[in-house]
Amino acid sequence: MTATLSADELQLVTGLLYRLTGMTFGENKRYYIERRITERMKQTGIASARAYLAHAALDPAERQALVNAFTINETYFFREDHQFRALGDQILPEIVRTKRPGDLVRIWSLPCSTGDEPYSIAIWLLENWPMVDAYNIEIIGSDIDTSAVEAARAGRYAARALSRLPASLVERYFEAEHRQYRRIIEDLRESVQFSVVNLVDPASVATQGRFDVILCRNLLIYFDDASRKIAADNLFDRLHPGGFLCLGHSESMARISDRFDFVRLDDAIVYRRP
Ligand SMILES: C[S@@+](CC[C@H](N)C(=O)[O-])C[C@H]1O[C@@H](n2cnc3c(N)ncnc32)[C@H](O)[C@@H]1O
Repeated sequence: MTATLSADELQLVTGLLYRLTGMTFGENKRYYIERRITERMKQTGIASARAYLAHAALDPAERQALVNAFTINETYFFREDHQFRALGDQILPEIVRTKRPGDLVRIWSLPCSTGDEPYSIAIWLLENWPMVDAYNIEIIGSDIDTSAVEAARAGRYAARALSRLPASLVERYFEAEHRQYRRIIEDLRESVQFSVVNLVDPASVATQGRFDVILCRNLLIYFDDASRKIAADNLFDRLHPGGFLCLGHSESMARISDRFDFVRLDDAIVYRRP
């Protein structure tokens, strides 16, 4: 049976999740919250929500399991692909203007969820950016959810995640492994690195070094303005000067940060560190 939380307990749960992830969950998400807390209470054998929260407060592994249970991992290959077009046609040509052949170009997909986005970047560039072999391109996918990062490393996908990919690309970059799943071919799997990173924790974000391009899509929608401001500063600090930031289509830096330049490209609106 699903546990019913009192108003106080609901606030304790959402407060803890906010401190851990930057995500806000309102009263309208009560049922979602109760279902997930009930699942964690079952897994840990703890009968009351308060006792469970006291346990989670003291146990880092349980806090991570709680975070994993609450993340919304919706993603798929070639989502908002107009930004990949902008990446190949305008952003990377601009980035490499100041680089020499063989130089490192670093691209960060944060959050990467189950890896669909960073693998999409790799596929898109292999297919559409003629200079792809001229530079040392490093693609890194990071997420706060350790199960999602594990799934990304494994690279197995159901048909639904691949539905926007042309059949020829599915044939080229995936191998049939099981009736319902396809797996990214090994070469491509090895070309993307994955790590666990919390966007609202500056120390965690700083472990990844600096990037030429960051895609941070469909995460700020779950944040309030205070978390968005922390995220904006962390993203700014992780960009090389002149580096680009791509957000999701319903996200923007307006009201959040005036540190970035606003850049209107043919296929996308992006932000740039001056
Ligand atoms: C809806 S998915 C977006 C995935 C991908 N960027 C896309 O647009 O398809 C949101 C992801 O944000 C991750 N997330 C939530 N809070 C985070 C945080 N504080 N730091 C890093 N990732 C976070 C979740 O685990 C989830 O995988």
